[in-house]
Amino acid sequence: MKGIILAGGSGTRLYPMTSVISKQLMPVYDKPMIFYPLSTLMLSDIRDILIIATPEDEENFKRLLGDGSSFGIKLSYAIQPKPNGLSEAFLIGEEFIGDDAVAMCLGDNIFFGEGFENTLMQARRNAEEGKATIFGYYVNEPGRFGVVEFDKEGKAVSIEEKPSEPKSNYCVTGLYFYPAKVVEYAKTLKPSNRNELEITDLNNIYLKNDKMEVVLLGRSFAWLDSGTTDSLLEASSFIQTIQKRQSRVVSSPDEIAFTKGWISEEKLERIVEKYGNSSYGNCLKKVLEDHKKYVEKRI
Ligand code: DAU
Repeated sequence: MKGIILAGGSGTRLYPMTSVISKQLMPVYDKPMIFYPLSTLMLSDIRDILIIATPEDEENFKRLLGDGSSFGIKLSYAIQPKPNGLSEAFLIGEEFIGDDAVAMCLGDNIFFGEGFENTLMQARRNAEEGKATIFGYYVNEPGRFGVVEFDKEGKAVSIEEKPSEPKSNYCVTGLYFYPAKVVEYAKTLKPSNRNELEITDLNNIYLKNDKMEVVLLGRSFAWLDSGTTDSLLEASSFIQTIQKRQSRVVSSPDEIAFTKGWISEEKLERIVEKYGNSSYGNCLKKVLEDHKKYVEKRI
């Protein structure tokens, strides 16, 4: 199973903050935004990940994340010269994906909630067995997103991109699991009215073929995107609230790598040293202390 983080786009809704730096490198509380989708893919047990960025930003992502070995994973990079749509990721990533199933997470999507890892592992299994999975989330203003239409039995029947009259409150989040051969479907897509290769058109192919599961994330679950000034601030406040209450870090690729046994205790100690007295570094220090106090005693 492969993973893709789509971290391109021009980030115009965050200008002037994103004039010289990619949106997905902006901080969400104590860590760069891209740590969140990276954590989501790592929680899905995906260790081979392609980061797609703009030509201007690719180098900065490489400086931040390197080849992934510090997280016990493999990271590669590719360029999307223009934001031609989310489905273009599968054309850019064709060689990387090869004959595997693939999950894609948008670089500005944040997921948080109990049981998420199990949900992800089920989606992964689906994809490996030939069925796609997307995630629906109840929102107030569905018209800003892809929106799911359900039939009388509650079965998802279609998705509409940014409809003026949404057929439900359930929008499609920016996390997608596809079986092998998604590239072949992506190749059949034509640019939409806004001149993009739409992910919604791709998802509708799977729905029509009855090869798509739409998993609804419940009300105890948080899904945030952080592409506007307000949503960026809200996401930061949300993460701050959760982390301060427990002094536990949310969406840390370092912690996930350690918990999954992909990096050793010694390696995490070196990372803690590197991050020094930062809030993120202190959270990782606590991961090590808690490991000794609780995990080793299976509490
Ligand atoms: O966030 C979920 C929504 O994402 C879905 O509900 C929609 O169905 C889907 O189309 C998408 O909606 P948006 O139109 O709001 O996506 P946006 O153009 O804001 O792009 C999402 C992220 O992907 C953003 O961080 C920029 C990046 N991006 C976007 C495009 C179009 C790329 O990296 N490359 C692209 O070509």
